[in-house]
Amino acid sequence: MSLKKIDEQLKNVRDKVIKCKKCSLSKTRILPVIGQGDHQAKVVLVGEAPGSNEDKTGVPFCGAAGAILDELLNSIDYKREDVYICNILKCRPPSNRNPQTDEIKACTPYLEEQFQAIKPRIICSLGNYATSYILEKYGEKEIQSIGQIHGRVFEIKANFGLVKIIPLYHPATVVYNRNMIEILKSDFKILKKHDEK
Ligand code: URA
Ligand code: SF4
Repeated sequence: MSLKKIDEQLKNVRDKVIKCKKCSLSKTRILPVIGQGDHQAKVVLVGEAPGSNEDKTGVPFCGAAGAILDELLNSIDYKREDVYICNILKCRPPSNRNPQTDEIKACTPYLEEQFQAIKPRIICSLGNYATSYILEKYGEKEIQSIGQIHGRVFEIKANFGLVKIIPLYHPATVVYNRNMIEILKSDFKILKKHDEK
């Protein structure tokens, strides 16, 4: 697909999300957070939901977890612009509570449209919510917690081709426990190795 067509499709997602009232988060959010990065990225990173900083700016991962994400990308010589970053929920849950099943159900068609436009070769799901949504969608039956499956590579067949799903710990984990950075750095090396193949 031409870049112009991809841009058009992503703009279409943006237009729909801006107007969206499919779940109650539309009432409490300030700005929706749609996504950011290379529209032809080979790698898409999928987080959970906007936090307070993201809600104010509309930019994904622009707070403390975002600083960790930048550090992790830098550790493998990547920049934000090399990948595409988005979330399973486009609007912030009040007080950063966990996403609810009905919200995930209402919102993920937008994520799906983003995948269909970008057609990534690798999808990294950040944390338990993004991981279980994505693995379930591609037919995994028993999904283990992120502590057990982080850094593993699941090869799935999407309608646009073969995709590697790599679950990773959510970068916010490092905000609460700095020691986790080493595990994440070593998992990001796995991402790089598969991206280079
Ligand atoms: N955490 C997320 O999962 N996504 C963001 O955009 C910011 C923090
Ligand atoms: Fe719509 Fe998703 Fe926002 Fe809910 S979270 S209002 S489904 S864009």
